[in-house]
Amino acid sequence: MIILKKVLIPRENSWIRRDIIIENGVYSKISESIDEYDLKNGRVIQCEGLYLIPSFIDPHVHVREPGYDYKEDWDTCTRAALKGGASAIFDMPNNKIPVTDKKTIKEKGEIAFNKSYVNYGLYVALTDDNVDEIRKSGIQKAVCGIKIYMSKTTGDITVRSEYALLNIFNQTRPVLVHTGSVDGLLKILSSYEKAAKKFSSIPVLYICHVSTGDEVSILRKWKEIFPWIHVEVSPHHLFLNKENYKGLKRVLPPLCSKKDNEALWKGIDDKTIDLIGTDHAPHTVEEKKKEDPPAGFPGLETALPLLFNALKEERITLGTLLRITSVNTKTLFRIRKGTGVQENACADCTLIEEGEFFIGQNGYITKCGWSPFHGWKYTFNPVLTMVDGFIAYERGRFFRNPVKNLCI
Ligand code: DOR
Ligand code: ZN
Ligand code: ZN
Repeated sequence: MIILKKVLIPRENSWIRRDIIIENGVYSKISESIDEYDLKNGRVIQCEGLYLIPSFIDPHVHVREPGYDYKEDWDTCTRAALKGGASAIFDMPNNKIPVTDKKTIKEKGEIAFNKSYVNYGLYVALTDDNVDEIRKSGIQKAVCGIKIYMSKTTGDITVRSEYALLNIFNQTRPVLVHTGSVDGLLKILSSYEKAAKKFSSIPVLYICHVSTGDEVSILRKWKEIFPWIHVEVSPHHLFLNKENYKGLKRVLPPLCSKKDNEALWKGIDDKTIDLIGTDHAPHTVEEKKKEDPPAGFPGLETALPLLFNALKEERITLGTLLRITSVNTKTLFRIRKGTGVQENACADCTLIEEGEFFIGQNGYITKCGWSPFHGWKYTFNPVLTMVDGFIAYERGRFFRNPVKNLCI
């Protein structure tokens, strides 16, 4: 049993102070004051001045293992997640040998189960010829979703088959798309529209990392017709642009203009954008310094601190921050464990302290060891992350408890 004393928890758009008992993985009691009798057993954590939020669930992470584990592996990546206040990550399939079938899913599942510090989900990649296998072989049940690459990025698994792009919508798992361009976006939307006419029901279509005002405008209209389209944005596209970023080069989609940053914030505000995915895509500093570097930025350790900066600057409300970092993600992937800090909801939570901090001041946990936000100031710092009611991270120390695949 863990007892949190005098912790600030979110209610509507502000904070209230409560005592909380965490037991058997859930918030078993939340009240204004918990009496002495209850305090007798278990650990008591004095939380004066600390904030408690449902942990971040990151639906877009490139762990890299197996195949590219010199860049990142399940140990370093999931510890980076905990330090950033995340209790679950969903891993993308563009490994050295792409995850496209039962064998590659099983192989990655075993590594994740044995090494991960956080709960997880795994994606399978659509190829030009595995759509029938995905639909019929039970693969769907082993993954949190299906990933489509409409253009080349790390790992070349671009899908061109019209048959695959239509029939992947004849199953129930969310379909995530790296569109590559506005043309790619329009192509997948048209395929989704055809699928809606042809099949009796269609899954969620999830557009990854929108980066421009044009994409937001297109998707705002399409969501009026298909409200179950979900739209993701990555922190680097919200905070960085071609003018203000001078760090290690290259990410896909590329950084755009300040005007695009503003259009993305507006998209969050009017609910065109539903959720944050970091697109944590680690590559080594050595690789990034090459003339033609691989695309990708690490993002797991910085997403929540940056979003709390936005909260402090009143760019977003507390309700919005929680909606895009956990509530919508849980609903979309059907993680039925309660969406807030409420009695009987699952205690996947993060304690946050207030102060003056700088990104990278104590180094990085990610194996790639850098951040595009290095040196940025922030004021809200995750100090403790719980997974299923167990402390997995506390002020620089990590504890591995049993973890699970959230989507099977
Ligand atoms: O910059 C990117 N890096 N964008 C992607 O879509 C893929 C990712 C990676 O896997 O490195
Ligand atoms: Zn992508
Ligand atoms: Zn990605």
